[in-house]
Amino acid sequence: MGTTLDFCTAGESHGRQLTAIIIGLPAGLTVEAGAIDRELARRQCGYGRGGRMQIESDEVLITSGMRHGRTLGSPLALTIGNRDWPNWEQEMAVAPPGHSFASQRMVSVPRPGHADLAGAAKFGHPDMRNVLERASARETAARVAVGAICRQLLSEFGIGMHSCVVNIGGVAAEVPQRPDDEFWTKVEGSDVRCGNETAADEMHTAIDQAGARGDTVGGEFEVHVSGLPPGLGSNGTWQERLDARLAAAVMSIPAIKSVEIGLGKQVADRPGSQVHDPIEAGDPGDSWPFSRPTNNAGGIEGGISNGEPIVVRGAMKPIPTLTQPLPSVALPSLKPSPAHAERSDVCAVPAASVVGEAMVAFVVAQAMCEKFGGDSLVDMQAACEAYWQRLRQLWQPRAEGV
Ligand SMILES: Cc1cc2nc3c(=O)[nH]c(=O)nc-3n(C[C@H](O)[C@H](O)[C@H](O)COP(=O)(O)O)c2cc1C
Repeated sequence: MGTTLDFCTAGESHGRQLTAIIIGLPAGLTVEAGAIDRELARRQCGYGRGGRMQIESDEVLITSGMRHGRTLGSPLALTIGNRDWPNWEQEMAVAPPGHSFASQRMVSVPRPGHADLAGAAKFGHPDMRNVLERASARETAARVAVGAICRQLLSEFGIGMHSCVVNIGGVAAEVPQRPDDEFWTKVEGSDVRCGNETAADEMHTAIDQAGARGDTVGGEFEVHVSGLPPGLGSNGTWQERLDARLAAAVMSIPAIKSVEIGLGKQVADRPGSQVHDPIEAGDPGDSWPFSRPTNNAGGIEGGISNGEPIVVRGAMKPIPTLTQPLPSVALPSLKPSPAHAERSDVCAVPAASVVGEAMVAFVVAQAMCEKFGGDSLVDMQAACEAYWQRLRQLWQPRAEGV
């Protein structure tokens, strides 16, 4: 972790708890644990999730970095307990087991599409549970908690965030170019996070049919960020480009196999005149006196936010644990055997969209801390206001025809 806003997580899927430590949060930010729990509940919802969601009812515990409801400017640590821990206490014990212990949950047949085989080779674990426990997407609950805190920071600057599912198993749903509150309310009311009811019904069918076959389905989600200032990220170096940082963050979510910004790969099929967003003059008195009739760029040009909403799309592969398992081989005998199967989701695209929001919230919050200094919230707000004033003056001469 560097000196800027950053975080890391620790914890195994069936371990005692998940832990996240966030560094670089400004002092003076009000953090509400209830708002974090609401985000955790959003991650747990979704048609097609497995039995674990009934066991989990995630609740955050903030253990340091805050006093009397506000951040101190020091590292913030949080934990999310595992309600299933009593059933795993021996299997996942940190301490050496007693002489009589024999694992009942050893994993010796790797699952195609999971980290099992590659991780066993990398770390030298004969029991692939030692790999899958960390590769499991249970870890994304900690990311959602971190994202919830980043969202609380962003809301201080009027920056808002939404996500929706745009495809499950090949059933696609259109999203308006500039979705309104009514659209987002529909999304939040949908158990597949889809704003189009007809498409949502077809998505249910696709999930049911896959589940009945012992199969799984993937899909795509979109994250939309509104209200952010132009000028976040930079064209200066490859590491600073906001689009590259968003792509890495969303791609880091387990099972995400492609990330697009704005029109994404469709840009390859269209001429420039149908890709680039014209620039129109807005009100000369505004600090940002421009408007764009389209937002094909997804709010980023040259690696810098351009004042339009950011639109990021992630594609998720189907869940690799199948109840009708694919062929694999037992280790170390190499004897052909169906892949390991355990309680699992049929479809987790709606949950992945909530995790996508969290990762996008983190990247945008990090870029805000870089641009406006991250020591204290009041300093950040003052720097942000000074920036808007500078922009107002920057465009003033043109408004007066100078
Ligand atoms: C929210 C979410 C839930 C997931 N649930 C499962 C699951 O129940 N079973 C499973 O095998 N994989 C699940 N995955 C996917 C695996 O974690 C992922 O495919 C695996 O770690 C291998 O990583 P890779 O797909 O990025 O190569 C889930 C992913 C996400 C984002």
